[in-house]
Amino acid sequence: MDKLNKPITVTQPCLPPLEEFIPYLKQIWDNKWLTNNGILHQQLEKELAEYLGVKYISLFSNGTLALITALQALNIQGEVITTPFSFVATTHSLWWNNVNPVFVDIEPEYLNLDPAKIEAAITDKTSAIMPVHVYGNPCNIDEIQNIADRHGLKVIYDAAHAFGVKINGNSILNYGDLSVLSFHATKVYSTIEGGAIICHTEAMKHHIDNLKNFGFRGETVVEEPGINAKLNEVQAAYGLLQLKYIDEFIARRKEITQLYQSLLKDVAGIRFLPDMENVTHSYSYFPILIDEKNYGISRDALYNKLKEKNIFARRYFYPLISNFEPYNKLESSKIENLLVATKAAEEVLCLPIYVELINDDIQTICSIIKYSA
Ligand SMILES: Cc1ncc(COP(=O)(O)O)c(C=O)c1O
Repeated sequence: MDKLNKPITVTQPCLPPLEEFIPYLKQIWDNKWLTNNGILHQQLEKELAEYLGVKYISLFSNGTLALITALQALNIQGEVITTPFSFVATTHSLWWNNVNPVFVDIEPEYLNLDPAKIEAAITDKTSAIMPVHVYGNPCNIDEIQNIADRHGLKVIYDAAHAFGVKINGNSILNYGDLSVLSFHATKVYSTIEGGAIICHTEAMKHHIDNLKNFGFRGETVVEEPGINAKLNEVQAAYGLLQLKYIDEFIARRKEITQLYQSLLKDVAGIRFLPDMENVTHSYSYFPILIDEKNYGISRDALYNKLKEKNIFARRYFYPLISNFEPYNKLESSKIENLLVATKAAEEVLCLPIYVELINDDIQTICSIIKYSA
């Protein structure tokens, strides 16, 4: 098979029609209100809360600042149990709060934090658990909450991949003490850069809103050392427009996922993560796991073969966060503590998935996968 003449990347933003964006810009120009809880920002919070089925949402300039602020809002200290199989920002948010990450291994089926291994990692310094709904597949929320309740711990979900995901019809974002979304350009739903914290009470929303605005309460009172993490009006406008198309976007992602699943289901040595029962997915990623022995070549060999053809799959999440320089000396980063995560990081490959990816290209990608080994 020849090299494709245009590159296919793992993801690509689906931009709304430009002519539909102009009236929003006109409104912003007319209002001359560019940031600081503007009209579009307020409207987006309202529409997102409705769309997602959550009570309180506070918008942020990006997901990382939302994670950092979520930990501040709950005054998390000491040690936090988390997963090494995620994007590095999950653990960085702990470091920025002077909190020590304690890595716990993942479960082999959906690659989320393994509840069965959490309790052994709890010490008298543990204050919270920070799991990630990796690829948007819900963690074992009931078991995690049971453990947290037994030990008096907070639960902060990094839900960066879980926009629109529901479990038994209820938003996954309603679980835990706080959930954090990312609206980065690579995500299912985007405000170019952006993020949000979802919480359960009006008082907590006020607290979070103050924290993202330098700690101001009113004009002249600063109650706590806050940060600047506000989403501006242009981002909010983009977000409002994206929301009009989000159901279409997710429907197309579902079709792509189903096409991949049907084309790859009989390839020996290739496994994908099947849809979960009782879960409404938003199909943010399409990861496959390559078992070198059964497939014939390694994940990296396949990754390079695809690259030669101009197809840029990505090895999310490799390396593990626990292997990065700032964290690799931690006791919990030892490989024997993270055997499942280590194997997953060596086997995983996320295939291209985005709204405008065409079926012919999916066929091509799957043919390369079928005939490479
Ligand atoms: C799991 C996870 N957490 C946190 C982030 C950080 O979000 P942002 O890029 O919006 O800062 C990302 C992605 O970017 C992510 O994938």
